[in-house]
This record gives sequence, structure tokens and C-alpha cells, in this order.
Amino acid sequence: MEPRESPPRPDRAALADRLRRLPRQLVRRSPFEGDIRPTRVPLIAFGSGRPTAPFPHPWNYHEPIRILESFFWNADAEEGTGRHCRFLEVAGFAPVLVVRDPGLIRAISTKTGAQEGQFDRDTLPSVGIARATGRDSLLYANGPSWKHQKKLSTPPFARTTLFQPEQFGEFEKTFRQTVRCRLGVLETKLDETGAPVRVRLEPEIKAVMLEMLVNNFFGADVPYEEIRQRYVPALEHVIDHIVTDTVVNKLGIPLRVMPRVTRGIARAKEARAVFEALTDLALASRGSGGGLWAQFNSDASDAALRSNIRVFLAGALEATTSYASWAVAHLAQNTRAQDRVYDEVRQISTYTPDTLRAAPYLGHVLEETLRLTPSLYFHPRRATADTWVETLSGRRLHIPKGNNILLDVWHANRHEDHWGVARTGHPAGEFVPERWEGLERCPHAKELLHFGFGHGPRFCPGKHLGQLEVALVVGAIVQLFRFRAVTPDNPAKAGVSTKPADGVLVDLQRRGESPGRTEPTLTESAD
Ligand code: HEM
Repeated sequence: MEPRESPPRPDRAALADRLRRLPRQLVRRSPFEGDIRPTRVPLIAFGSGRPTAPFPHPWNYHEPIRILESFFWNADAEEGTGRHCRFLEVAGFAPVLVVRDPGLIRAISTKTGAQEGQFDRDTLPSVGIARATGRDSLLYANGPSWKHQKKLSTPPFARTTLFQPEQFGEFEKTFRQTVRCRLGVLETKLDETGAPVRVRLEPEIKAVMLEMLVNNFFGADVPYEEIRQRYVPALEHVIDHIVTDTVVNKLGIPLRVMPRVTRGIARAKEARAVFEALTDLALASRGSGGGLWAQFNSDASDAALRSNIRVFLAGALEATTSYASWAVAHLAQNTRAQDRVYDEVRQISTYTPDTLRAAPYLGHVLEETLRLTPSLYFHPRRATADTWVETLSGRRLHIPKGNNILLDVWHANRHEDHWGVARTGHPAGEFVPERWEGLERCPHAKELLHFGFGHGPRFCPGKHLGQLEVALVVGAIVQLFRFRAVTPDNPAKAGVSTKPADGVLVDLQRRGESPGRTEPTLTESAD
């Protein structure tokens, strides 16, 4: 049962907005008012050295972080408020405002919700997601429909549900068994070779994350090999297709109606069918109350929940894999930090909220990971009405109706002005977990938000589940292995989320062995 979608219809209100904007656009007057004055960026800037054009097209869409970067090209030379707030405007189109000012990101996120005149989550960058998962999901819906979706599908994720002592103990145990069992396979490989093994850890992390989600959380019983061989590749394909589909499929033709004329389309259809089969499996144990379904006191039909289950499967897999992969990648580059985490987790046998509180350095590593390398690197918004926003320090900005907004969390979080030496004691572009020690007491604490799980009403409902999974996986890897990055730096690749470009390629050895004994052995997944 693939998501059904009607082809887009011309929107009269949008047309009226275009006409309303046009006279101002033709004389190039800024659409914004207030004491924050966004700076205009040129559409074309040949010879400027700018990394790419400030909009996605078929030749640059696979480098979204560079597209965002191009908005802030030479911005550091600017002194005014446009340094962290820029816009692109082409006559006939809505302006695109890009913000890397945490105070303004906070103000706009706080005002994103279902109330009249609040910002929407902009659906433009996620049309591909909607075509793959359905429009009636928490991620895609806006206004009253979003509120309805939230009521329908989030109760099992709430901290009060997940962290009820009895409930949590059982849940954590199955999670831990899954992680331990999968890492045991790597241990055996190391024992067999008797030497460090060179391995890409991201595929291992991804398979464990999907297993925890499908079997432990949704209570299904899918064998690990099937998860790894069948479902992980299909979901990867669906997620890759989402990105291409958003940029290239401008006509919005649903995959369902496309003929299998190319190998690519046939492959995309196969992957989508496997994704549907996995959604069936996740829903199948609802009747017997398997996994967290027992907490799901809703009379909504399976059909009404289906889009959200698809979002939870694909979105949670993507976000948790990204988060845990980055944490392991950073620790692989910073072996001193890795050893400090080991000192904390070596004695931990269960990952409860209490034991996690007793491992503050692991907590700092995870915070620092989300700050420097957030999984969701921008948050899209759209102004549904002419709106004033105000930062905690009283700076104001008037954003006209219809504006598209990109909250550029990636660049905000690594800018020296916001997270640098003056504010946190450490350079913003470096991975330094120690930055978080005592930070809550600093005078700017309220403004030091990294937005790793979002902010305001559209905050991530899967935060507690995700944090538990990531802490468990990272803690268990550090407990068992010592690992070193093979490449000296850690560039990012970005699609729906960000990930380390090398797939977390590390030399792995068991803890307790002396480092660098022999040359590493290559495994299949390192090729
Ligand atoms: C641990 C890794 C995760 C990270 C870093 C993460 C990050 C985020 C962020 C930043 C947002 C807000 C986006 C915005 O403001 O536009 C968000 C929203 C969301 N997340 Fe997560 N997430 C994670 C795990 C999960 C999990 C495990 C689930 C579900 C099983 C989930 C489901 C959702 C949904 C449905 C939304 C949309 C909420 C709404 O609009 O009301 N996430 N996530």
C-alpha cells in the first residue's frame, strides 16, 4: 500500500502573493523590517570564488552544505546584523531567508506551530519525503493536521512512557542484548584474525539501529541477516531517492505511476515495495501489543498511522545512524576523549537514566557531537502571515507572509561568534567535549542552544528513544574496542541527514590489546 498523492494543483493564494510582491521586487527593496537587517545575496556571482550557486540545481544538489555556505560567502567581513542573516530574492518568487544566528533560530522555532499566524515547517524541501511516506505524517503536516498527527502518534515516545522504571528496564535490556550480540560478531572477527581490523562502522551501526527500531521498539521479529541484507539496503535506496526526487522530479510524478523504463526507476520501485513490507511488519505486532505498542492507547486505524510509521522507520534510522556514526567518528579522531569515555563506561552494565547521569563525559561527547555535526543540518520554515519575531536580547525582525526560511543550524553551531573561544573557551570548529563542563553556569547559557533535536513546538518527539539508542551503541563500542580513524579529518556528506563521508573507517582492536600491534586486516565492509 504505497502512499497515494494527487498531482499538485495551482494555488490561487500563492499567485496573488507573487503579484503582491512583484512591484517591490522590481525596485529591489528589502522585504524585511526591524533592527535585524538581512543582507541580500546575488543569484549569480561569477568570479567571486563562492563555493556554488545559492540554490539547488541538478549539478549541486548533492552538496547542500555548500549551498548554505554560499549564502554566507564573505559574510564574516560584515559588521552588521546581516553577518548571520541573509536572503536571496528573485522577482516572481518568494524570498529565501537563511539564518545562522542562534538567537533568531530560537525565536523562529518558538513561533512554529499550529496557532494562527505561526510559522509552518516548509514543505518545499521535503516533497520527496512526502512522496515516499505520505503527506499525513507528523513530519510533513502543518496546522491543525499536524496537531492531530501529534496526538495520534507520539505518546509512546514521551519520556514519561519510555522511562517508567518497569517499562524501561525491559526495553533497555532487549536493546542492550541486540547491541551486545551484533558487536560480538566484530569481536569474533578480531579474535580470528588476531590483528586490528580495518572496518567501516557506519553500516554496522545502521543495521543495529534498524534492528532495535523494528524488533525492540515495534515488537517485530525479523532475523538480523534479513534486516542487514534486505531492509537496510532498501531503506538506503528510498532515502537516497527522496533527495533526488525533491530536486529533479519537479512535475511531482508519483513513483507508483512511473513505468519501469530505466533500471533506476525499477530499482526505486523494488526498494519502495520492501519499505512497505517493513511497514507491514512494524504494524503487525500492534494487535498483540508487542514492543512499545502496549503504550499506544489510540483507536486510530493502522491505515491512519501508516505514514507516521514510515516516517519513524526511515527518519529514525537516518537520524540515529547519523548521530551515533558522528560520535564514533569524533572519538576515533580523538583517542584521548575516547579513553575518558572508556574510564566512565567500563563498569556500566545497564544504561538507565541514572547510569547515564553518572557518565557526564559521555553526555558531553554526545552534546558536542550534535553541536558540531548536527544530524539535521537545516530546519525549513515558512511564514504563514506577516510576523514579527524577537530574540531574547530584544532584537526584532519582521518577516512577510510567504517567505521561505532555512534555519542553518550547521553553520550557526560552528561559528566562532556563537560557540568560539570568547563564549565557550574553545574554538567553535573543533570537537572539544570539555567545552560543556560548567557551561550551564556561563552568562550566555540560555542562548547556547545547538538545536540538535530542534526547538519549540516542533521539537523531535523521538529524542529520548534516540538518545538512549545512541548512548547505548556508542557506550558499547567504546567498552569493547579501541578504534582509530584512518583518515586525518572528518568531512561530511549530507542528504536527508549528515554523515561522516568515509563511513567511519577505523582500525579496530579489542580493548586490552596494545595499540598498533600489527598491520590491520581489511574486511569486506571497508572496501
Ligand atoms: C537520535 C537522533 C535524532 C535526531 C538528531 C533528531 C533530530 C530531529 C530534529 C532536529 C527535529 C526538528 C526538525 C525541525 O525543527 O524542523 C526532529 C523532528 C522529528 N523527529 Fe527526530 N531526531 C532523532 C530521532 C528521532 C526518532 C528516534 C524518531 C521517531 C522514532 C524521530 C521522529 C521525529 C519526528 C516525527 C519529527 C517531526 C516532529 C514534528 O514536526 O512535530 N526522531 N528530529
